[in-house]
Amino acid sequence: AIIHEKDDEYYCRHDYVSSSIREACQDMVLSDEQLKVIRERLLRSINEGLSKETHASATVKCFITYVQDLPSGKERGKFLALDLGGTNFRILLITLGENHFDMKSKIYAIPQSIMTGSGVELFDHIAECLLNFIKDQGVYKQQLPLGFTFSFPCQQLGLTKGLLSQWTKGFNCSGVVGQDVVKLLKEALQRRGDSTVDLCAILNDTTGTLMSCAWKNPNTRIGIIVGTGCNACYIEKVENVELFDGDFSKPYVIINTEWGNFGADGSLDDILTEYDREIDRNSLNPGKQIFEKIISGMYMGEIVRLMLVKFTKQKLLFNGQVSEQLNTKGSFLTKYVSDIENDEKDNFTKCREVFHELGLSHASDQDCMNVRYICEIVSRRAAHLVSAGAATLINKMDFNSVTIGVDGSVYRFHPNFHDLMVGKITQMVKSNVKFDIMLSEDGSGRGAALVAAVASCSV
Ligand code: GLC
Repeated sequence: AIIHEKDDEYYCRHDYVSSSIREACQDMVLSDEQLKVIRERLLRSINEGLSKETHASATVKCFITYVQDLPSGKERGKFLALDLGGTNFRILLITLGENHFDMKSKIYAIPQSIMTGSGVELFDHIAECLLNFIKDQGVYKQQLPLGFTFSFPCQQLGLTKGLLSQWTKGFNCSGVVGQDVVKLLKEALQRRGDSTVDLCAILNDTTGTLMSCAWKNPNTRIGIIVGTGCNACYIEKVENVELFDGDFSKPYVIINTEWGNFGADGSLDDILTEYDREIDRNSLNPGKQIFEKIISGMYMGEIVRLMLVKFTKQKLLFNGQVSEQLNTKGSFLTKYVSDIENDEKDNFTKCREVFHELGLSHASDQDCMNVRYICEIVSRRAAHLVSAGAATLINKMDFNSVTIGVDGSVYRFHPNFHDLMVGKITQMVKSNVKFDIMLSEDGSGRGAALVAAVASCSV
């Protein structure tokens, strides 16, 4: 019942939205029927990733993580974690104790020149930051175990070996694709003449998210990120993973789906809009990560911007006047989508601040209303697509109760992403399944410590 109330509320507000804008946005609205087709195709793509015969050509790789144990809650000790692949690069020192954990962390910038420079420079930079950090924290001599959260698609060959299969998001460092990133980091540390850490696990941020939620709630079986990128991992029976070569005495293994690449074979072409196609064309990785591009924070603001530019040129917005800022690629930050939607119903304070930034101070109240609607349409589509993904996994796993751990800037900061997901997933999962969605508290950091801990390296 709650879902329908919310839906009504949503549509009521839009009585004030110009009908021309509403019509122009129709290609952004996915019907339940379309979402069902998307779920069927995603399931097929996941199965192709899991199967021996089709894995090599599959778009959704379903990489084996070699993480087969969820945390017991009894993990103790001091760990280091590296977190690379979101908006920031972070280093953390984590102490797991009884019923509590303590975390010290530092954020480091990764300059654009390094993101698209050489792999050697990237790993040298990481190694340098890491050594400075452990010196500052006074743990230089302790040989602490380190979990490396590396949030890119890696074909793992074990807990400490991961070959980068392709860069995603804004990264494109040369000489890394096909290489073992653990080895590259170790070599960088050696080049500095130090070997003061014990690198004992590489993991994806989705795995970290699942693990950190499972630490509190053992029912967690899915980890999702909706941030700069979008991806999910889940717990699969080892017998369903044809390429599995880990420990068969344990029934499950976490699979990193890399569903962000869903659609790279054209299977989402029929729902892509002209804005999606333009985003893809102008990206570092055209044709790849299509599902990610229509959902995640790296692209959401830009989708809105492209719509605003088009509608303004058609004289549906801003009196037909496009500002120079609005015409600049990347100027409409994804954060603005959340900000604008955060305004109270009939109040456009944040919206006007954004317009001010963008040189659109001449906007009318009607423009505010319309732009807010456009933001809602785009974020809502993203939430529905993530929900379709989550429901696909829930229905595939066949547990009667599932907790989903979620993290990422879009999920965290958007005012109703969570509610939209709860509503849509409810409609799509089998009726006997109960689920809930919990925010992961720093999965990339704490999750890395937990993987390092259960990996039983030298702890
Ligand atoms: C991209 C990466 C994936 C990561 C996700 C969220 O999709 O390929 O590994 O989990 O972003 O950060």
